[in-house]
Amino acid sequence: MSQKTVVITGGSGFIGTNLADKIASSGRRVKLLDNLSRPGVENNLRWLRDTHGDRVSIDIADVRDAAAVRRAVAGAGTVFHFAAQVAVTTSLDDPPNDFDVNARGTLNVLEAARVQPEPPAVLFTSTNKVYGGMEDVPLRQRSKRYEPCDAVLRARGFGEQRPLDFHSPYGCSKGAADQYVLDYARSYGLRTAVFRMSCIYGPHQFGTEDQGWVAHFLIRAIEEHPITLYGDGMQVRDILYVEDLVRAFLLAEKNIGCLAGQAFNMGGGAGSTVSLLELIELIGSLNGRRPKVSFEDWRTGDQRYYVSDFSRFEAATGWRPRVGVREGVGNLYNWLLEFRGLAETSVAVRRHAS
Ligand SMILES: NC(=O)c1ccc[n+]([C@@H]2O[C@H](COP(=O)([O-])OP(=O)(O)OC[C@H]3O[C@@H](n4cnc5c(N)ncnc54)[C@H](O)[C@@H]3O)[C@@H](O)[C@H]2O)c1
Repeated sequence: MSQKTVVITGGSGFIGTNLADKIASSGRRVKLLDNLSRPGVENNLRWLRDTHGDRVSIDIADVRDAAAVRRAVAGAGTVFHFAAQVAVTTSLDDPPNDFDVNARGTLNVLEAARVQPEPPAVLFTSTNKVYGGMEDVPLRQRSKRYEPCDAVLRARGFGEQRPLDFHSPYGCSKGAADQYVLDYARSYGLRTAVFRMSCIYGPHQFGTEDQGWVAHFLIRAIEEHPITLYGDGMQVRDILYVEDLVRAFLLAEKNIGCLAGQAFNMGGGAGSTVSLLELIELIGSLNGRRPKVSFEDWRTGDQRYYVSDFSRFEAATGWRPRVGVREGVGNLYNWLLEFRGLAETSVAVRRHAS
């Protein structure tokens, strides 16, 4: 593995912090580029600096600032591009801002990489939202969840051959960025790859109603606030514990020569699915009481069922997720309690490795 600096845009965010921690722990140097616009991420930055000292540096800068991105990327071996406007809801409120950060910001990263004498690998976090609402997939209801009528889809989830269908400004801006990242491999020979990610969860996540729903539900339950479910709560996602995602990123970096120019669906897969109502039940069993729930209308672009078929990435690298839903949600619950100084009430599940 190259000993050049690794750049993580959005590196103070949830996924960036977990990846930076893992890379710095292995002795490599990490540079974060983050404008600290997400509330709470300053805690992650402090934690990274306390844990790793000078091995982790930060440029407090905006991905919309092409010159700042170019300075950060100069001499890097790999760029993980995570900085983003991350929510469908806020993209609907302000589409131009969403476009500037997600589409233009990504182009800035790609251009910064392209002009380097030895262009770094670029790994980008796209989203399942590029596949749209998937209204064409016949679903049925079983207990507290939706599931596809088709047995193969139930067993495997959705692969990358699913047609692209950008819904919502967020879907469009991330989708455009996803395509630019792939095209820079085709047009310029850059070593780029895309993860189209389902729902990721884990420590250092400051989930809100707009993004990061597993953490958001846990936080609401711990703080004894009611939880609003948009829709009927039977929508299903495959959820992936961040430690497994970080392992996938490092495998992608190591194998980038073979993976370049490809997109990979990335999630917990058919073995790690949960509906919103099922998560509420699980939280009730962790917390000792079922959270109070209220219902609102469906939100734009919300898929009733999305599960990733990660077999393309598995075939290329051997990766499979290791942390199951109950264990991962328990780990995040404990981390959230620790973060709030409430650790004595934590439940007995495997401790997070970091
Ligand atoms: N968490 C998930 O479930 C999930 C699912 C699919 C895709 N993704 C994608 O993964 C990436 C990381 O997500 P996350 O959950 O860690 O989000 P996050 O909000 O925790 O992290 C994003 C970071 O980017 C920073 N940022 C935002 N706008 C910026 C800008 N203009 N310039 C510089 N920095 C900026 C924020 O301050 C934050 O630290 C994002 O691109 C997101 O769209 C996440």
